[in-house]
Amino acid sequence: MAPTFPPPPVNTIDWSNVGFKVREVNGHIESHYSVSTGQWSALKFVTDPYIRLHGMAPALNYGQQAYEGLKAFRLPGNDRIAIFRPDRNASRLQHSAEFISVPPVPVDLFISAVKAAVALNAEFVPPHETGAAMYIRPQVYGSSAQLGLSPPEEYMFCVYVLPTGVYHGTHPVKALIMDEFDRAAPNGTGSAKVGGNYAPVLRWSDKARVEGYGITLHLDSKRHEEVDEFSTSGFIGVLKEGEKVTLVVPESRAVIDSVTSLSVQEIGRDFGWGVEKRAIKYDELPKFTEVLAAGTAAALVPIRSITKRNSNRLGGQARVSSGSDGAETVTYILEGNEEPGEICTKLLDQLKGIQLGKVEDKFGWRFEV
Ligand code: COI
Repeated sequence: MAPTFPPPPVNTIDWSNVGFKVREVNGHIESHYSVSTGQWSALKFVTDPYIRLHGMAPALNYGQQAYEGLKAFRLPGNDRIAIFRPDRNASRLQHSAEFISVPPVPVDLFISAVKAAVALNAEFVPPHETGAAMYIRPQVYGSSAQLGLSPPEEYMFCVYVLPTGVYHGTHPVKALIMDEFDRAAPNGTGSAKVGGNYAPVLRWSDKARVEGYGITLHLDSKRHEEVDEFSTSGFIGVLKEGEKVTLVVPESRAVIDSVTSLSVQEIGRDFGWGVEKRAIKYDELPKFTEVLAAGTAAALVPIRSITKRNSNRLGGQARVSSGSDGAETVTYILEGNEEPGEICTKLLDQLKGIQLGKVEDKFGWRFEV
């Protein structure tokens, strides 16, 4: 008898053009926590995408909310599905939850919930050949009514899933440094994946997009001297001198620990490349041979250029140009060239190879559903 799981992909979606938007699926997973029991409840599958929250919930009023992003892929033959590194996202959600006084979701519960959400929506996992994925969005909230500024009695953990392509696309993208707005305070919530680090960015990233910049980059909030991260993803600078390749990633308390970045750092080490985690000065940007944005939704985005307004600090260096508008730009990929750089291509091929089951998973990153 033919195996019944996983079901084939639905034929109501144009799998060659999945895009990056919300699509309704069969349902999501919920678990609830009450301070009185000190327990997360058994997982429940809920078909209504609208969740039930009290209007006075601190999630809605005080931003007591955190989320995660990870992906599931169909393996070759389309008859198996694997989730990429859910254990890392589970521990990152615990890190974020601590910042916002939400009880930790146990790692096992997180992994079971993610597997259940994928399994119960398996027909929405894109076909292997498309290279697209099922995006998984776990979330935690303070959910019961609470007026005073103290933690409420009840919390909710949900896992939503939906099929997606990659955010930002696959072509080189121009980045703009955010000068007028700081993403997170020096000792604040910058390393937590909480909505409060994202909502204030929306109007700036929208404005930047209209001006031709597909991605925005944040420097450290205290002095605007060091690179923190992109608004949607982590920063990786590539140094290539002859055959020697080094990936440089920011050491900062204000950045989210990107699972994609950590994974490509491992892949880079395995290729025999160096990896340096250290403060990255703005002035170093012209030294990089490539810059990449790394995130679950983004995968690896080749950065065409990085522009800083009202700046005249890098003058005279290779890759640097100054505009009549007082902005300076460091260019990594010239206009007209739509190809990612060599290092981006190598890392992305290997990362996707592992995720899609085309390459041996020697790191143990695939969790089959
Ligand atoms: C992700 O990459 O999973 C994120 O959560 C970033 C978001 C802006 C799409």
